[in-house]
Formats: sequence, C-alpha cells, structure tokens
Amino acid sequence: MSNKQTILVTGGAGFIGSNTVKFLCDLGYSVRVIDDLSFGYKKFVDSRAEFFEASIADEKTLEKALAGVEAVFHFAGSSIIKFSIDNPMSYVENNIVNGTKLLDGMRKASVKKIIFSSSASVYGEPKSVPVKEDQAKIPLQPYGASKLAFEAILSAYYQSFGIESTSLRYFNAYGPYDEQMPATRAVPMWIKEAIAGEPIKTYWNGSQLRDYIFVRDIAQAHVDVLPLSGCNVFNIGSGNGIIMKDLLDEIVKIMGLKNKIVDMGERPGDPMKLVADTSAIFQAVGWRPKVSLHEGLAETIHYFKNAKK
Ligand SMILES: NC(=O)c1ccc[n+]([C@@H]2O[C@H](COP(=O)([O-])OP(=O)(O)OC[C@H]3O[C@@H](n4cnc5c(N)ncnc54)[C@H](O)[C@@H]3O)[C@@H](O)[C@H]2O)c1
Repeated sequence: MSNKQTILVTGGAGFIGSNTVKFLCDLGYSVRVIDDLSFGYKKFVDSRAEFFEASIADEKTLEKALAGVEAVFHFAGSSIIKFSIDNPMSYVENNIVNGTKLLDGMRKASVKKIIFSSSASVYGEPKSVPVKEDQAKIPLQPYGASKLAFEAILSAYYQSFGIESTSLRYFNAYGPYDEQMPATRAVPMWIKEAIAGEPIKTYWNGSQLRDYIFVRDIAQAHVDVLPLSGCNVFNIGSGNGIIMKDLLDEIVKIMGLKNKIVDMGERPGDPMKLVADTSAIFQAVGWRPKVSLHEGLAETIHYFKNAKK
C-alpha cells in the first residue's frame, strides 16, 4: 500500500498529463485521472491510475473523482492557439468556465490545493528575455488570455475560499506521447515529417527564439511545488534560448537525415522570442531541469520511431 497522497490529474490522457501520471505512479502516489478524451488517448493513461472518462464540467463524476484527494494537477484544457483565434468563446468556455467548475467541485469536496498548467503565452511578446514572472503580460491570442484569466481566478479562489494554488507557466514542452491532433508543435511535427521522409515545415524561416523544456522536468516541478502554501506563479523552462533552426539542426543531426526544408512563412499568434527566467522556482523549491536538450530529443525521437500507429 502506498502511503503517499492521492492526486487527481485532469487532462491525464493528454501529452503532459499522461507523462506526469506515469511519473507520479512511479513515485508511489495514488493517482486518479479525469479526461473527456477530446484530445487525449485512454491508452496513454498509466494502468496504475484510476480513470474517469468525463469532462471537468461534469459535477457528478467530479464529486467521485475528488473524494479524498489532497491536490489536483490541472492539465485539462484547450491548447491549440489557432483554434483559439478561430473560436475564442470555446477557449473561454473550456479554460475559464470549466476550470472554475473544477474549483467549485474542489470547494465542495474540501480539496485545498491545485497546480495549474499555465503558459508562457500570458506574456505575449516580451520586451526582453529571459522573462521574469512580474514582466508585463499582454497575451497575443485568446489562448494566452484564457490562461492569464484563470490565474486571476485562482488568486480570487485563494483569497475568497483558501484554495491554494501554483500556476506553472510552461514555455515549450516536448517529449514522448505528444500526439496532438492536428500537430502544431515543432518537435513532434519535425520528427514525424523526418520519419516519413517528407519535407520539414518551418515558420518564420526558423528565426524564432524559444525555450524547450522536457516533459519529465515539468512533471518534477509539479511534485516539487506541492508543499508550497499560498498562491504562487512560476515560469517553467530550461532558461536557455534556442533559435528554431538550430533546434531543427539538432534533430536532423540525431536522426542523421537530410530532408528538404520548406518555410511556411508567418504564423499568427507566434511571438518572436520567449525564454524563461526560472530563478524564482529555483529559489522557492530548488527545481531546475535535469534533462539536457540532446537527451530529451533523443528520447522523444526514440518514442516516435517506435510508436505504434
Ligand atoms: N504542450 C505545451 O507546450 C504547453 C505549454 C504551455 C501550457 N500548456 C498547457 O498544459 C496543459 C496540458 O497540455 P498538453 O500539451 O498535454 O495538451 P493535451 O491537449 O495533450 O492535453 C489536454 C488534455 O485535456 C483533456 N481535456 C480537454 N478539455 C477537457 C475537459 N473539459 N475535461 C476533461 N478533460 C479535458 C484532453 O482530452 C487532453 O487529454 C494544457 O492546459 C496546456 O494549455 C502546454
């Protein structure tokens, strides 16, 4: 029998959620997952976790899933930037309204802690990088605005109801089990295109500056912030900027391929530079990434080469 806490993971069938569920199970936590499978895959949910197929807006299932839970890791949400520009209301609905339904379920079940998947997109186009948490937040798209709004709701739920929270603003996550459909993230797209022998598609001529963080380092950050009290916000990135075309070079080098590269031009909603200053979370709990870009990419490539279709 595990003597560790019970954690409810929302969105635990998705990319970051499923990796975190496995990470928690390996550490001996008792894990529950709630996911409506709108974007996730049941087969990615570790069999040691208890699975509830439902939306976080489903009050009855939420009541069962939250009973006796110490903390919620809240990954469920809509995360495709283009869709948020095409249909902002659905992002308000899922990321803000349904998120608030989850918080109300927590209030009823007396669950007092939540770790929330926020995003670097709250900053928009930062004036300077690396970005600190207190820099200006001017989201470029409804997706980023929905994340910032939910951070504000978490602040209100702490002040009004004592629900403690940590919002983790991930920069660019990458790793195994990133099967987003349609794929919009560069690392899985490029690896899949490379494996298929297709031309590799870049945007902005690969000139953007980004900060890539391996998914297991993100999972570790969630566990590290669990003991914190109050209402906190931290950046989660590697702290190292990389130009996208250098990232592509690294992938091509590891895979030993020579695919044609085709640039698709500009993509709406993309900032030009985003790099995290992660000194705040290091000072608070000692978290820093452990997986190098080379190791993380090699593991991700291995996953995609062996992933069952
Ligand atoms: N991947 C990144 O680089 C990145 C960066 C910053 C922030 N985030 C945030 O991290 C979280 C996880 O991202 P991801 O890349 O794993 O996305 P994902 O789409 O793979 O996972 C999200 C999961 O949530 C589920 N879901 C969506 N709405 C739901 C609802 N109402 N009820 C229950 N389940 C629901 C989906 O089925 C899916 O399994 C998201 O909130 C995302 O916005 C991701």
